[in-house]
Amino acid sequence: MATHLPTTSVADIVRLGPVIPVLAFETAEQGEHVSRALYAGGVKVLEITLRTAAGLDAIQRASRIAPDIAVGVGTITKPEQCALAKQAGAQFGVSPGLTREMHDASIEAGLPLLPGVMTPSDIILAMELGYEIVKFFPAVPAGGIAMLNAFHGPFPTLKFCPTGGITPESATNFLALPNVVCVGGSWLTPKAALAAQDWAEVTRLARAASELSRPVR
Ligand code: 3PG
Repeated sequence: MATHLPTTSVADIVRLGPVIPVLAFETAEQGEHVSRALYAGGVKVLEITLRTAAGLDAIQRASRIAPDIAVGVGTITKPEQCALAKQAGAQFGVSPGLTREMHDASIEAGLPLLPGVMTPSDIILAMELGYEIVKFFPAVPAGGIAMLNAFHGPFPTLKFCPTGGITPESATNFLALPNVVCVGGSWLTPKAALAAQDWAEVTRLARAASELSRPVR
């Protein structure tokens, strides 16, 4: 049985740090090393994706690292993954898109969801289903900062976590937008650092990311 914090809300999760690292692990052991390295660098919220077979085991191990770490499951593309991830210890879920079936499955599983949107119609569906915070994916290919500014007119209360194509350099500009609460990205875990098992480099990148400033909202 995984030990983890009681279910919290996505609003609480996104306040834990300015950057949510998007993670894909080759093995659960690699996941544990990286998760510990990120936590050591001050990153307390992780998105461990189901892109690899190690995802669920890595979620289980990461959720045991510390009582104040929030481990989420990423790349939810099938409704049934919500319950599996919750069982493994995930405290929240992130999906690249949204369907009513996925929404229902996340409610059923008790897994707060940060659903992906890319178009106004996606946003309207998300708002109809009650979401106040969504992921904007893939952020840079879909228009980046200009698109987020354009969304702010028709959807002034909606908050975004842009993810996809964001760099340490561009993150600050995204975080300065009035409708951005945090950003997601994979830059904290470069392939070369993982291959070299350079956990100190992961901690260094995590520290820099956790120190990025964002306006209090
Ligand atoms: C992804 O698609 O892998 C995530 O959204 C992260 O994107 P990034 O690798 O461009 O940060």
